[in-house]
Amino acid sequence: MAIRLGDEAPDFTAETTEGPLNFHEYLGDGWGILFSHPKDFTPVCTTELGGFAARKADFDKRNTKLIAVSVDSVESHNRWKSDIDEVQGTALNFPIIGDEDHKVADLYDMIHPNANDTLTVRSVFIVAPDKKVKLTLTYPASVGRNVDEIVRVLDSLQLSAKFPVSTPVDWKDGDDVIIAPAVSDEDAKEKFPKGFRKVKDYLRFTPQPNK
Ligand code: BEZ
Repeated sequence: MAIRLGDEAPDFTAETTEGPLNFHEYLGDGWGILFSHPKDFTPVCTTELGGFAARKADFDKRNTKLIAVSVDSVESHNRWKSDIDEVQGTALNFPIIGDEDHKVADLYDMIHPNANDTLTVRSVFIVAPDKKVKLTLTYPASVGRNVDEIVRVLDSLQLSAKFPVSTPVDWKDGDDVIIAPAVSDEDAKEKFPKGFRKVKDYLRFTPQPNK
């Protein structure tokens, strides 16, 4: 069954390149990103894992742990790690789950048989500290993901977890945000002391409150 926004992220224990772990314990009280890779020793996956590893500081800053999964073994992942380091110039700095029995892939519905009946698609699940799934993305094997976009949605999710705001089209950290329609103008004056700009009754912009 597909995982929907707001569902609890299914917990599991698994063997990884950093030893056995329990998913929820690994995330602790921070945010998490679980993302799947179709196969070891493949070109797009190699660039993606190096690309995410190179941005670890951005995820650390956001109290977010990364964990990857692929249907190959931990032993295969460990051999592949040196290629990632060599090709992308970054050592892998987060665990990759060995999922030969498809336990995690099935739990998260990462195998889409009409795309490929044994390999995972490129799934992304962002999990909040309460272990609820806040974002899902699905890409085909041929499309490498965009780390900037993942960081951008993380910023938006973390902002709306703290303030009654949402973020407009193409928003990025530092841009104005939208005040939730449920907040009255009266309350908005108090909650957003930098003021707000009313474009429509239902569309009010305010400077990003945590800047
Ligand atoms: C890749 O990472 O390039 C890839 C993985 C699985 C199937 C096709 C391409």
